Amino acid sequence: MKIGLPRLTEEDPFILFDKWFALASKREFSDPNAISLSTTDSSGFPNVRIVLMKKFNHDGLIFFSNSTSAKGREIESNSKIAACFYWKSLGRQVRLRGGVKKIPKAESDRYFSTRDRKSQIGAWASLQSKKLQKREDLEKRYNEISLNYKNKEIPRPPHWGGYIIKPKSIEFWDNRPYRLHERLVFELKKGKWTSFNLFP
Ligand SMILES: Cc1cc2nc3c(=O)[nH]c(=O)nc-3n(C[C@H](O)[C@H](O)[C@H](O)COP(=O)(O)O)c2cc1C
Repeated sequence: MKIGLPRLTEEDPFILFDKWFALASKREFSDPNAISLSTTDSSGFPNVRIVLMKKFNHDGLIFFSNSTSAKGREIESNSKIAACFYWKSLGRQVRLRGGVKKIPKAESDRYFSTRDRKSQIGAWASLQSKKLQKREDLEKRYNEISLNYKNKEIPRPPHWGGYIIKPKSIEFWDNRPYRLHERLVFELKKGKWTSFNLFP
């Protein structure tokens, strides 16, 4: 019995990812670049949250965050991560496991300079993941920072920047009828990607 689309057969996971992401970018209602990023704290307890992938190529996938946040601290102590995209409009999931590290400061500077001014102020104002007593404290910080930088260019906060996820394995999951889904896993071994299928 042949069910649904032909099997996935790409040899390079980034080429397949590029195709899927291009389609998701057309079809998803919002944030096709939203990725669940899982880290672990110093006791091995997992943590997960959404970040936005801003760029990807053969080197990896880049997102931006605050390095003093929970995720920033967790990455500092354990750079092994797992991440997952889900595109509801396509019935597709992409799972990644690998390492993550900071991108060069100059690249973070470049990206920060392209952000709109209000988001730049927001990056300074948020003490991401620290306890906030009241909402007004955040708004007060935002207003003070706005005033300090009035008519001035806003530099990138030293604690804010890009991270690159360097996957060692990437799994493509494609929804098929009768739960006979397609799963194609790529693994990076000695610089070469090999692939195999899994039962759904
Ligand atoms: C759609 C969406 C996009 C987000 N994008 C980012 C992002 O790119 N970078 C980031 O630091 N947080 C982003 N967040 C907020 C994070 O999910 C999270 O609340 C924040 O980074 C603090 O996480 P932490 O305490 O685990 O460090 C996003 C949240 C949502 C729902």
